[in-house]
Amino acid sequence: MRASSISTEDLPLQDEIDAVVTTALDQLKDVQLDALDDWRRSYLGRGGRLNALLRSIGSLPAAERPRAGQAANAARKKLGTALKQREAALSAEGEGDVEQIDVTIPGYRTNVGGLHPITRTLRDIARAFAPLGFRVVDTPEVEWDEYNFEKLNIPPDHPARDMWDTFFVKNEARPGAMLLRTHTSPAQIRVMEQIRPPVRVLAMGRCYRYEDVDATHESIFYQIEGLAIDSGITMSDLRGVLEYFARTMFGRDRKIRIRGSFFPFTEPSCEAEMSCHVCGGEGCRVCSGTGWIEILGAGMVHPDVLRGVGYDPDRYSGFAFGMGAERIAMLRYGIDDIRNFYRNDLRFLRQFN
Ligand code: DAH
Repeated sequence: MRASSISTEDLPLQDEIDAVVTTALDQLKDVQLDALDDWRRSYLGRGGRLNALLRSIGSLPAAERPRAGQAANAARKKLGTALKQREAALSAEGEGDVEQIDVTIPGYRTNVGGLHPITRTLRDIARAFAPLGFRVVDTPEVEWDEYNFEKLNIPPDHPARDMWDTFFVKNEARPGAMLLRTHTSPAQIRVMEQIRPPVRVLAMGRCYRYEDVDATHESIFYQIEGLAIDSGITMSDLRGVLEYFARTMFGRDRKIRIRGSFFPFTEPSCEAEMSCHVCGGEGCRVCSGTGWIEILGAGMVHPDVLRGVGYDPDRYSGFAFGMGAERIAMLRYGIDDIRNFYRNDLRFLRQFN
């Protein structure tokens, strides 16, 4: 012990003072707001326990008195501070109904959703065609056989129906006539029945097929259908539009090549292929070594289809095309299994946001 400090060792009263402080602090812990004043009075008040001790200082030898007085005052200060703290703590608790915000507490993590890669693809395709004047239309997913097949030049027993086997919807009034559309092509009819040329529309939406599901086939999928009708539209317009589309979506170096095909609702019909965006046409795994990737079916709208909706084929002509949204998305993002889109696996989906 250093010489300058107050020695407590043999100070009379010190033990008593310490005992009072200990009890007082111990009690104070449980004292509620309405009892604080009682506590103050019994320890710090005029008739309180510290004062009683102070009074007894007078009976000590004169040499001891100052130190005893200092010790008693130190105890008074200590209790006074403890009282203020207790008071502050209690009144803060009492203000519990006043909102208290601790801005340093970390926030709750919220899950922010993102757009599905197919939604992104549909939007990007719509955006690619918009500058050419194509408007997006929405037509029914539950269709009549008439629109899905007949008006598209596919009569009831036409072998082409095998390509579009589907799910039928029970309809008492017209048994066997209502189905889930197998492609977006019925939108062509629905639009042409509503408006006169010039026509420039993009129909996009869900389609259904009775399919053996594998890495490239789903029974529920999305298609994008384009249709342009006016006087004087030729196949070179189709070619130009498709090339513009391929360049917008897959890069400015893309080329389009057109190969003959068959669809009942177009004449001539074709399949459009795009120079491979991965190898640039050299041949790679993505294009199966050919340098070309098939992206859609298309053709010049069949004169019978035009006649069926009341358009005069001698006056108007036009092209149509149809593509699978999943296929375009798979090519763009390098996805090798179509089933990933609809597995709802966040590890897959998060990669696109
Ligand atoms: N509807 C066709 C299919 O699902 C795709 C198609 C081919 C659409 C040629 C067209 C077209 O508009 O002209 O297989």
